[in-house]
Amino acid sequence: MEYQITDVVKGEEMDFKLPDSAFFEAVGGVEGMKKFMYNFYDIIYDSEIAHYFPQDREEFDKVKEKNTKFFIQICGGPKVYEEAGGMDLNEYMIRVHDDFSINEKARISWLGCMMEALEELDVDPKLKKSFWDYVESFSKLTVNTFSDGAYHPVYKRKK
Ligand code: HEM
Repeated sequence: MEYQITDVVKGEEMDFKLPDSAFFEAVGGVEGMKKFMYNFYDIIYDSEIAHYFPQDREEFDKVKEKNTKFFIQICGGPKVYEEAGGMDLNEYMIRVHDDFSINEKARISWLGCMMEALEELDVDPKLKKSFWDYVESFSKLTVNTFSDGAYHPVYKRKK
């Protein structure tokens, strides 16, 4: 499949679709998601954006486990991610990233790591695309630092 990355437009009102839950099933449920996402974070650990994350391996492994729970939940699996504390999950996730200066280049590197991890999956390209479309669009909302200064992403909340 082709992995397209579209540009972040500063101030653009963003919308996105969650991945098809058939992706979650095709990957192999919770265990399959763990393999997929742990591999993704291992790729991140060796990437040019590794410095955003804890350098200590044990701390990094904790991030890996926590983040994987989020992806399991967002893909339609069991609701195992408990950090949001009742807040809108998407808004919470944008807020988490506000603590880091994420620019367009970091987003592209992050998506590059994701592309690699997806390539290693033996899953119907149509389902991979549904996951890809989610990360490609949602990742725009994690970008909060532009060459002309910082800004807060605009999330169009579903009613
Ligand atoms: C689709 C896009 C993305 C999703 C769904 C996502 C998901 C997550 C999740 C679930 C967490 C853990 C939140 C928590 O429970 O504390 C997290 C943390 C984090 N994310 Fe992302 N992320 C995305 C994009 C990015 C990008 C583009 C970067 C660029 C560097 C990034 C960097 C980080 C960092 C540094 C943390 C904190 C790790 C720590 O706890 O030390 N994320 N992300």
